[in-house]
Amino acid sequence: MNKHIAVLAGDGIGPEITASAVQVLEAVAKTYGHTFTFEPLPMGGCAIDACGEPLPAHTVERCLASDSVLLGAVGGPKWDALPGDKRPEKGLLGIRKAMGLYSNIRPAKLWPALAEASPLKKQLIEGGIEIVVVRELTGGIYFGKRGAYDDERMGRTAWDTETYSQKEIERITRIACELARKRTGRVISVDKANVLESSRLWRKTVHAYAERHYPDVTVTDMLVDNAAMQIVKDPAQFDILLTSNMFGDILSDEAAQVTGSIGMLASSSLGDTSCGLYEPIHGSAPDIAGKDIANPIATILAAAMMLRDSFGMTAECTAVERAVGDVLNEGWRTADIFSDGTRKIGCREMARRIAEHIA
Ligand code: IPM
Ligand code: MG
Repeated sequence: MNKHIAVLAGDGIGPEITASAVQVLEAVAKTYGHTFTFEPLPMGGCAIDACGEPLPAHTVERCLASDSVLLGAVGGPKWDALPGDKRPEKGLLGIRKAMGLYSNIRPAKLWPALAEASPLKKQLIEGGIEIVVVRELTGGIYFGKRGAYDDERMGRTAWDTETYSQKEIERITRIACELARKRTGRVISVDKANVLESSRLWRKTVHAYAERHYPDVTVTDMLVDNAAMQIVKDPAQFDILLTSNMFGDILSDEAAQVTGSIGMLASSSLGDTSCGLYEPIHGSAPDIAGKDIANPIATILAAAMMLRDSFGMTAECTAVERAVGDVLNEGWRTADIFSDGTRKIGCREMARRIAEHIA
């Protein structure tokens, strides 16, 4: 197959980790007889520097014309003082919105070789953990109306709004239920329905939709504060965790750390077409950028998800995941997942070894 992939390397460690994923994709292409072409495009802080805005129109156009998009990470102290709508993060939110990517899947799984890296007690994780966070990605408070004003009595005041419509909730519920059918048939929907009106609509809509279209799927509810506690208390109870944009952002970081390192967690973002966006869930880590010590595995696993979910290349996806597992089993570690008795290597060396295992 021929596939054209837009690459938004972004900022900080973004260029190193996307280069690693491209190297692995090239090994896949060679081994399986595909042709992948890669088109680098500016987005985030680097786009602000090069074009004066975080998401140039040309980048959006080219992403929409590609078969899929590979993304590194955006942001850094250099752009922190910019106003909200000029920040690098605005580029990321903008490309998700422009591509209609409302469904964000973040599988947090415990790699047996990395059990040591989990901060949780052994007996909590020995049965294995795989929490698949299904995060609504183009609605909620990250996209709601906002503003700031000077209040006579209270001083400077700012506000953001959380808005959800039935349609937005239904389409992400469908994604969670479809995934549930392929797994344990269970969905835990996380909200704050004891306080928020938008959460009450969320809960009501999730149940009505699932009961009507997926009577074989069991949906239970959990309040977000309790969910944050349960993820560290009994992570194995979770399979699919369906939630809103902000709660998903927060809980996916927590779920990632429980499995060892945020440097291992990949994500897919899809809408109604097969053209998706694939990225690690971690940030641009400006403090370690350019030092060749970042963990490229999350981005490599994101590329694997692209192969399966956008290109239908199931065997190729499995080959990448197996290669990652093999390299970990051999004891190779980047600094974030290093423990006694393992061998520390850099970002480039990790990518090289994974690519080598694919051939
Ligand atoms: C993530 C990130 C982004 C988000 C930021 C960088 C805008 O935290 O992908 O989880 O909040 O979605
Ligand atoms: Mg986040």
